[in-house]
Amino acid sequence: MNPFRFQNPTALYYGKGQIEEYLAAEVTKVGKTVLLVYGGGSIKRNGLYDKVVGILKSAGVTIHELSGVETNPRLTTVHKGIDICRKEGVDLILAVGGGSVIDCSKAIAMGVKYEGDVWEIYARKGAATGALPLGTILTLAATGSEMNSGGVITNWETKEKLGGGSPYTFPAFSFCDPENTYTVPKDQTVYGICDMLSHCFEHYFHPTEHTPLQQHLIEAVISTIVENARFAVDNPEDYNARETIMYCSTMALNGMINMGVQGDWACHAIEHEISAIYDIPHGGGLAIVFPNWMDHVVNVNPQRFANLATRVFHVDPTGKSTEELAGIAIEKVREFFRSIGAPTRLADYDIGSENVERMAEQAVRFKPIGNFTLLGKEDVQQILKASL
Ligand code: NZQ
Ligand code: ZN
Repeated sequence: MNPFRFQNPTALYYGKGQIEEYLAAEVTKVGKTVLLVYGGGSIKRNGLYDKVVGILKSAGVTIHELSGVETNPRLTTVHKGIDICRKEGVDLILAVGGGSVIDCSKAIAMGVKYEGDVWEIYARKGAATGALPLGTILTLAATGSEMNSGGVITNWETKEKLGGGSPYTFPAFSFCDPENTYTVPKDQTVYGICDMLSHCFEHYFHPTEHTPLQQHLIEAVISTIVENARFAVDNPEDYNARETIMYCSTMALNGMINMGVQGDWACHAIEHEISAIYDIPHGGGLAIVFPNWMDHVVNVNPQRFANLATRVFHVDPTGKSTEELAGIAIEKVREFFRSIGAPTRLADYDIGSENVERMAEQAVRFKPIGNFTLLGKEDVQQILKASL
């Protein structure tokens, strides 16, 4: 494995009753003026907003609000949040929502402390100089943003969607109560599952040798997602399934299962280019791109794919070559995405070939992408064409 340093400072509160018991203490430990950030209103409809506001008010906290954070959160909304924080002297940002709300909050937190435009940090033209403290209440199992320092922001003017972050943007605390995900609609539940599974795949496909524990840990998370996904999709109020899926999403991207390996992340880079232009759900884009990326790179290390077939999908290896098993693994991945109702083609989002070249060019604008193997513009174009 590669040498590594691991540190994750987020205090994680999992399960029922934790918000009621510990939220006020976590918030007031930091300060008394909070920016409450949320999305398009799901937390108002399901009662979480009233609960959180009630707890904060009882603790004497002054609340300012930024609502309407978009899925694929936009830079313009981040700017609004920065203005409020500066004007009102906010001590802590409390993000209540899914990955978009949390990512927007991370960008605001960095932006408040940054002298230039926060976009420079995402565009690799500047580095974060600090951040306001941030806490989260997660309402959708998907990104792992509740326990990592990354975030993805869309600059709609330039049609760019870029990831960024800093050691300052780990949430100080995150509350993950599976009951808060009961109201997540079926399609968003599916997208979340596609996203967490893709995070596992991104980690799984790397070129580093001698990483048996990492491989088995990642396989364990993949297997758990595959075994439990349909229960959460079919029955939104299945507590055990929601809890398991939520825990998988956190574990898939909090750094615990991939220490000492540098994952691939080409599919994420490609998906970000698709949603930068078409504003599609992140998980939906990944479900389409990943199997086609797998077809494109399988020969780099067929054994890695074969392991997926035998260890995760329990394919009997008797009489089958490594290459055959690798091909079966990719079909199993396709089949799984299909079985939970994920999109399979860009055409499902009415996307044609018109921007394929532009997206490929943009995906590699900083450098070739990937780490399992490097992809240039031509490779990305082929993967996108196969995804049409
Ligand atoms: O806006 P509201 O009304 O809250 O509705 C949201 C939104 O429409 C809804 N929703 C969330 N919780 C709900 C709910 N509806 C009912 N009940 C609930 N409990 O779901 C919709 C999608 O929410 P969103 O936050 O956009 O989804 P997700 O968590 O999948 O986040 C997607 C964003 O995260 C980025 C993606 O690129 C995308 O911009 N990512 C962030 C990462 C990170 N920070 O580590 C890594 C990922 O790879 C990803 O790129
Ligand atoms: Zn993702």
